[in-house]
Amino acid sequence: MYPTLSVSDIAAGKYEPGAELRLTGWLYQKRSSGKLAFLQLRDGSGTIQCVVSKKEVPEASWAAAENAPQESSIAVTGILAKDNRSQLGYELQARTIELIQGEAGYPIQPKEHGVGFLQEQRHLWLRSSRQRAILNVRHTIIKAIRDYFDERGFTLVDAPILTPAACEGTSTLFEVPYFDLGKAFLTQSGQLYGEAAAMAVGKAYVFGPTFRAEKSKTRRHLTEFWMVEPEVAFMDLDGDMDLAEDFLCEIVKRVLAKHENELKTVLERDVEALKKVQKPFPRITYTEAVETIAKTGHPIKWGDDLGGDEETILCKSFDRPVMVHRYPSDMKAFYFKKDPNDPKVALGVDVLAPEGYGEIIGGGQREEDYATLKAGIEKHNLPLEAFGWYLDLRKYGSVPHAGFGLGVERTVSWICGLHHVRETIPFPRMMERLTP
Ligand code: 4AD
Ligand code: MG
Repeated sequence: MYPTLSVSDIAAGKYEPGAELRLTGWLYQKRSSGKLAFLQLRDGSGTIQCVVSKKEVPEASWAAAENAPQESSIAVTGILAKDNRSQLGYELQARTIELIQGEAGYPIQPKEHGVGFLQEQRHLWLRSSRQRAILNVRHTIIKAIRDYFDERGFTLVDAPILTPAACEGTSTLFEVPYFDLGKAFLTQSGQLYGEAAAMAVGKAYVFGPTFRAEKSKTRRHLTEFWMVEPEVAFMDLDGDMDLAEDFLCEIVKRVLAKHENELKTVLERDVEALKKVQKPFPRITYTEAVETIAKTGHPIKWGDDLGGDEETILCKSFDRPVMVHRYPSDMKAFYFKKDPNDPKVALGVDVLAPEGYGEIIGGGQREEDYATLKAGIEKHNLPLEAFGWYLDLRKYGSVPHAGFGLGVERTVSWICGLHHVRETIPFPRMMERLTP
């Protein structure tokens, strides 16, 4: 059996009032007067009110309606009727109710629960309207990402998850025992493989889970997160910024087109702020960023990293994402190309989301010269033997190229207006959380 009927079909007007329908789902909420019961049936696509009149249904159905506990699975047949008071516009006048399975004592009640408790109940918490809205927006964001690149001639290339070496610094590597070869590391970024792919197909994107053994318990850090990483041959830093800007505008546009109402009503997101995400985004150098932050009285000097606090200060002064480029080379990974006009800085860019959300994209132009790149690997004390293949890309037809990585969870957090990334992914992995 495949469930062919859904509440979303009813919402879309696929059925006429008077039609007899059978719906299956879960009992979201219920109230009863002893003669009339109102069951909110949730089927995943939406929620419909089922009105049960004691004198009009078989005794067993009335008993089922009276006894079905919160979140039990139920099947209801009934006659579709217009109901202009409900958001859906319809209700079901029940004829039969069947309790499929259920037990009293559903742990999540309609009251305030602590976040720790909800996290522990994540497998059930996902059923709440707010979490469902987030899952749906996340889905749309991922679909928008894939469509964006697919429609522009990019090829999706899957990078390995087990890797022999670091891409983003050795301090956040997860180690895994690996047979006779000793150890492997969970990937921090698919970029290096994306670069190889770009030399094969011109425009590539890697999209998958990435891992960082981050010892930070901030609202922006997960140990496992999803990243999309486009990489383009013959693209420079300016092209990279053009791409990032266009890409973000399209994602926000798609989410607004599909979820404006859900964002406003369920997530209480200020959608007007999202509508300001229009080209062009301001582009400032790291040096200008440091000056801007220093002017607010916050202690910072050239060469300091822009941490969460600094990013928050900076992005609050713009109403749309801001692109900060040309960070000090010493702060950046080994693969960045230095600015030929000022080798103190690297041709990298971070895109910071507005309203205090901070970095959602990191990327830049890659070093394409063999000897310079090799020296960079050595300077960072990385094992040269693990990068032989990567250096080959600079031996056989090396070209200027660039790309970036967008963190899916930070993007979901910003677009949904959430306080913490833990609600942006179905089952978050953090330093202190591995369950459920
Ligand atoms: O800035 P990052 O470290 O850049 C890279 O990994 C590059 N290799 C990407 C590339 O050029 N292909 O990470 C990119 C993005 C960040 O901007 C952020 O959105 C996200 O990945 N990110 C995290 N998200 C959640 N938790 C973490 N611990 C994250 N670390 C990075
Ligand atoms: Mg970064």
